[in-house]
Amino acid sequence: MKRKRNAGISHRGAREIVVPQPSQKKFYGHGMPKVDVEKLSGKLIVVEGADGSGRSTQIARLVQWLEGSGHATVQVGLKRSTLVSEELDQAQQGNILSRITLSLFYATDFADQLENIILPALKAGFMVLADRYIYTLMVRDMVRGIDEQWLKNLYGIAVVPDAVFYLNVAPEQLIQRSFAKNFTLDYWESGMDLGLSRDLFDSFLKYQALVEKQFKRLQATYGFTIVDGHRSVDEINEELRKKIESVLTE
Ligand SMILES: Nc1ncnc2c1ncn2[C@@H]1O[C@H](COP(=O)(O)OP(=O)(O)O)[C@@H](O)[C@H]1O
Ligand SMILES: [Mg+2]
Repeated sequence: MKRKRNAGISHRGAREIVVPQPSQKKFYGHGMPKVDVEKLSGKLIVVEGADGSGRSTQIARLVQWLEGSGHATVQVGLKRSTLVSEELDQAQQGNILSRITLSLFYATDFADQLENIILPALKAGFMVLADRYIYTLMVRDMVRGIDEQWLKNLYGIAVVPDAVFYLNVAPEQLIQRSFAKNFTLDYWESGMDLGLSRDLFDSFLKYQALVEKQFKRLQATYGFTIVDGHRSVDEINEELRKKIESVLTE
């Protein structure tokens, strides 16, 4: 006998608004003082991936989709805190700070956004979309020889996201996309500070391989969802939406 379809289930094209269910939030480590995790009713969705992997493209579509289905959203990303972003720019131009100092600058920028944007938004029930999170910061530092345990402890302030997607795109493809968009490669995203090669392309390829290796290491601890970023923008977005929908009802 065929089962009758549940009339309450929404159909494609006529999607009902999914009401997010409050889920228990956690911090990775010591967290932030005076934060009651039980009050964090919003959802934190992170999109990770290399430069040119399509994070901005996907997030813009997710925001449209979420807002269109009645969810208030907030976007965050690295180096967007007004507290230290100018100093970070200057430090990068000079390339003079020690690795640990630069690392702490980034951590400060992250902590500022966590305290003043992410946590208040989660408390107010927003969907927070993060264009990169602690993982990129940790990986960049790990590639530069900073101790993994020290970093895990430093970023123990971070709240555990409801979903982390890693857009996986081959370095050769990343080069093509970056070129089509900016006509060049970014100095830092190519790891030129590491002296891997004088050639920007060669350095980019070597650096991305190192970054990928460290991301795989972190995958064991943090368990990202790896998304094949070589497909069309629509196909990728469809997969992200499906996974986010299940997070919303979790
Ligand atoms: N799935 C895709 N297939 C082909 N090109 C893409 C795809 N996603 C994004 N792009 C293009 O690649 C470039 C980088 O995308 P972007 O979203 O800015 O990446 P990111 O924010 O990760 O650096 C843009 O020109 C964008 O149009
Ligand atoms: Mg971007």
